[in-house]
Amino acid sequence: MNANKIMTISFARGVPIHAMMPVDLLAHSSQQALEKDSQAALPYGSVYGYGPLRNWLAQQNGTDVDHIIIGNGSMNLIANWAQHYIHPGDYVLVESPTYDRALTILRSLGAQVVALEQYSDGIDPDELAAYVRQYRIKMAYLIPDFNNPSGVSTSEEKRRAIANLAQQNDFIVVEDGAYSSLRYVGQPIPPIRHYAPDHTVSTGSFSKLLAPGLRTGWMIVPDRRVKDFTTYLQNTYISPNQFAQATIAEAVMSADFGPHLKFLHETYLHLLNLTQAALLERLAPLGATWTKPDGGFFFGINLPPTRRPVWDAADDQGLQLVNGDAFFALPKTNNYIRLPFCSLTEGEVSAGIERLATLVADNLA
Ligand SMILES: Cc1ncc(COP(=O)(O)O)c(C=O)c1O
Repeated sequence: MNANKIMTISFARGVPIHAMMPVDLLAHSSQQALEKDSQAALPYGSVYGYGPLRNWLAQQNGTDVDHIIIGNGSMNLIANWAQHYIHPGDYVLVESPTYDRALTILRSLGAQVVALEQYSDGIDPDELAAYVRQYRIKMAYLIPDFNNPSGVSTSEEKRRAIANLAQQNDFIVVEDGAYSSLRYVGQPIPPIRHYAPDHTVSTGSFSKLLAPGLRTGWMIVPDRRVKDFTTYLQNTYISPNQFAQATIAEAVMSADFGPHLKFLHETYLHLLNLTQAALLERLAPLGATWTKPDGGFFFGINLPPTRRPVWDAADDQGLQLVNGDAFFALPKTNNYIRLPFCSLTEGEVSAGIERLATLVADNLA
């Protein structure tokens, strides 16, 4: 119950708000796609995706175009990958915490999900080596750049070590790059694929760069799996959305895409810095800890123990929080919350974190 009828602030969903979506650019690009190439944009098309966009992605990612598969969102590609290659009882390794939807998919397939703690620079390759000796790992699902929900990035040294282990033990790393193009601070770190191209599947998404409603993402697949996987995709969805891809091709190759990306980076960096400052001021004194992200959308916060889970008590403070347990493959004793700064206004960042701090202070165990 909210006696003062204050406006609820939502920390529940980590998606871009409408103001971050380039409506004019997409309107113009869809028109261009139809005028220039309706022959390819409107029929069913290649299961690999729309040619000009594949070429652009190959160039951006420094890879051969034959390895690029564009599909209906990166999550859909990851789900199809798992559905095709993971069978009940197969061991799949994830970071703890990790993206809750990926966990749901893996569990629904009957995978044995094993989790490794994620530190401020990623999972520990020595712990991974011990797991690989103990379990016959078939796949590792990792989010090396700006993890959802923790915001943590895996260091270059650890990426190399993970790549070596994948090669030596013949498991596939599925590296989810949903946020990789959204680095606001520091230099990009090469993907795990760079060190083990035959043992890594990398994904990327246009959901955060343009708009999630386009439902378009891509996968970079090792040579030895391309034919088999695309045959599976063709049997599943015939071909992906060519019109969305033709629109995106026009958008990313237009002169307006660079300024749009700059706008995203500047806006999100500003919100990230505001969030960090408010957390330091309000939550650090209460014992909360987190890793400051260099990009992406999220802070993952370990709160001190409280008498009630904060997400149960949040409504009283005019806050919406998700149950942080959903991001952990194993039961977690901590009070963990994901704070998505991407979808907040400046005012919501400061007011929301103030409410969160009051909530924690009032419930400290
Ligand atoms: C880690 C991660 N992977 C994948 C996705 C889904 O991306 P897409 O919209 O390309 O399916 C999300 C969306 O929030 C995400 O956070």
